[in-house]
Amino acid sequence: MTVLASNLKSAGSDLVPRHVAIIMDGNGRWARARGKPRTAGHRAGVDAVRRTVQAAAEIGIEYLTLYGFSTENWKRPEGEVSDLMGLLRLFIKRELAALDKNGVQIKIIGDRDRFAPDIRELLNNAEKRTATNSSLKLTIALSYGARSELVDAVRQIARRIASGELSVTDVSEDLIEQNLATAGMPDPDLLIRTSGEQRISNFLLWQSAYTEFVFDDVLWPDFERQHLERAIENFAGRERRFGAVL
Ligand code: IPE
Ligand code: IPE
Ligand code: MG
Repeated sequence: MTVLASNLKSAGSDLVPRHVAIIMDGNGRWARARGKPRTAGHRAGVDAVRRTVQAAAEIGIEYLTLYGFSTENWKRPEGEVSDLMGLLRLFIKRELAALDKNGVQIKIIGDRDRFAPDIRELLNNAEKRTATNSSLKLTIALSYGARSELVDAVRQIARRIASGELSVTDVSEDLIEQNLATAGMPDPDLLIRTSGEQRISNFLLWQSAYTEFVFDDVLWPDFERQHLERAIENFAGRERRFGAVL
């Protein structure tokens, strides 16, 4: 563990965010800057995922949520989508054993019905195999969109109202939370977006109501432990008010 991380840890757990979410952006620009195809950027992005999961576990982050592929990303050229699918297959096949051995619990959020059956199987199996692990809780958002997640939640609740199981007055913030893909998880304390873009791109809309945002110009394939630590340091200096007067 680096000096910064251990200082943060020993200084009090409030300084280390319990849940960090990351919008991993900039693979295409990283590749373009090197005169390489976008796939090369995605491939380098996978290495950054591996590094970040390890760093997060060592720093003592409890929940790490990574935005890997959005519902809108299906609109990309077929070749790029299929390259990304290939990388996803490879990542799970190559990394699952090590993640499991390190006690990482994997959870996938998003519409997995849109994936090919073999990928669905890999994702289901990764979740099942790591379900009882308890070191880092790694959530990967794949084919994920927050609006679609909210639509699903509303449908599930509406069905239960229509059947008479619930009444309209049972609808509460807690009930909505329980029907999201992230049910049971704490809201992200810190959300990092790389590549200099400053937008949320349909990620965790409900859950990020009081999340602290850190935008970093670094392109995702160049993301290193120092960037994560810098974001945490930035987070540690923020005053979170949650609407109250401190
Ligand atoms: C993020 O990098 C990876 C995915 C969205 C799958 P991009 O592919 O969006 O890279 P840029 O934004 O074009 O540089
Ligand atoms: C958001 O990045 C999605 C992921 C990082 C997986 P995009 O590159 O798709 O977002 P926009 O298009 O710049 O908003
Ligand atoms: Mg992008």
